[in-house]
Amino acid sequence: MNNCKQNIITIFDTTLRDGEQSPGASMNIEEKIAIALQLEKLGVDVIEAGFAASSTGDFESISQIAKNLQTSAVCSLSRCVESDILRAKDSLKYAKKPRIHLFLATSPIHMEYKLKKKPSEVLDLAIKSISMAREFCDDVQFSCEDACRSEMSFLKEISLAAIEAGAKTLNMPDTVGYRLPHEIGEIIEQLYSVVQDRAVLSVHCHNDLGQAVSNSIYGAMKGARQIECTINGLGERAGNCALEEVVMILKTRKDIFKQYGELDTNINTKEIYKTSKLVAEITGIRPQPNKAIVGKNAFSHESGIHQDGILKHRETYEIMKPSDIGINDNENLVLGKHSGRAAFKDKIIQLGFNLTDDELQIAFDKFKSICDQKKIVYDEDIAAIIDEQFSRIPQVYILESFQCSTASNGAHLAALCVRKDSEIRNDCALGNGAVDSILRAIERVCEVSGRLLDYKVEAITSGKDAIASVMVKVIFEGTNNPVIGHGKDLDTLYATAKAYIQALNSFERMKNLLQDKRDLRYGGV
Ligand code: KIV
Ligand code: ZN
Repeated sequence: MNNCKQNIITIFDTTLRDGEQSPGASMNIEEKIAIALQLEKLGVDVIEAGFAASSTGDFESISQIAKNLQTSAVCSLSRCVESDILRAKDSLKYAKKPRIHLFLATSPIHMEYKLKKKPSEVLDLAIKSISMAREFCDDVQFSCEDACRSEMSFLKEISLAAIEAGAKTLNMPDTVGYRLPHEIGEIIEQLYSVVQDRAVLSVHCHNDLGQAVSNSIYGAMKGARQIECTINGLGERAGNCALEEVVMILKTRKDIFKQYGELDTNINTKEIYKTSKLVAEITGIRPQPNKAIVGKNAFSHESGIHQDGILKHRETYEIMKPSDIGINDNENLVLGKHSGRAAFKDKIIQLGFNLTDDELQIAFDKFKSICDQKKIVYDEDIAAIIDEQFSRIPQVYILESFQCSTASNGAHLAALCVRKDSEIRNDCALGNGAVDSILRAIERVCEVSGRLLDYKVEAITSGKDAIASVMVKVIFEGTNNPVIGHGKDLDTLYATAKAYIQALNSFERMKNLLQDKRDLRYGGV
């Protein structure tokens, strides 16, 4: 593979692995599969689906993702440890394009204090592990953890040895987000001078100094042909390089990248907004409003001078169009009370959903009942109906009915009925406010107890009659892992009850798989 002559940058997405290391961003299997399928639609070349040896949950999600994907390569992270490599291999058994991603620290500080190994031992271990991984998988990537604080002479030596042992991609992480763009450029340029076209050079930049995207772009300008990134820049601490930003930089500044061999990606940018929203919804971590490309305000012009300029000639103040990333304002205003089943079906297809006839009927009935309560039904409302109706998580608890009474200066009471298998349970609770009473009632009925970490309400569209979207983040008794639940309804309190029940269902799903979750990332080798 020619590293510098080819102009397509491989987009390696690690939202499901490095992104999931973001505090509170843990996802269940169904949610990971939904994200992986959307990443494939987006055109991501390699999806890092997890770290197979770290937990049964990660192993299972990688296997399921491998079974479900058709075109994107599926990758598992692995330490340079025999048992890890075997777990990675097994998790990728059904992948059409499997990749094993080995990592081993190469910086003096990591080798001395974390690994307690000499450089010669690290070199031997890398060669041994890459050779072993190559016995099972043609596509092996080797990452020099903390590469950007490693000695250049050692990086060159281990890179050449890794190629000899069979690695096809060499990744140079800026693990602690320390470097500036010209420094990353220098590292990649130096490595390219020895690696040439014998392996793909890759950059993986963390954002501790806010440089992850610029660093990745600079790396590409100097010869890197793979960029590792996450949706919305998700990741632990200050996050990783944001996929949407690197992709839109390469697309928008073609004039600059002409000089570097017309760099481009396989990404279908029209899927960016949808992917960003899905990741934000599932993780409960929304991009800040002024975040480039996908922030709520990224395309809104408040100032009169700007609005005037835009109306006269769009390019006066806009360098990209919202439609480039899949935001389509013309299609936003949609169906109403008099819309028929055919129009509804068209809209569903246009929004990218694929429903069976039975599912379509259920969604249509729900749509009609919303039309009775709400004058204008927007695309977002329809997407919400479908998300709500066809949850990705198995429903252990089903909310059958709900009632809540509040008083400005008195008791708040919630009463509800929940079904678990064929058993119907009813109970009620008083609380210090409506939300408190609802959560207490659910806990009584379902015999659980949880600590609410976060609670957010958002109107899905504008208007007093907008559907409310509620997100709860809860730690239920028995684990340390938070789960997220979502509920949508015209009634905010009902949406709250739905969200808490969904979190509980997510908890039930995760419970067994999480039992042996160990964070291996910073331990041992
Ligand atoms: O930041 C890092 O060094 C990593 C490696 C495991 C690739 O995520
Ligand atoms: Zn990382």
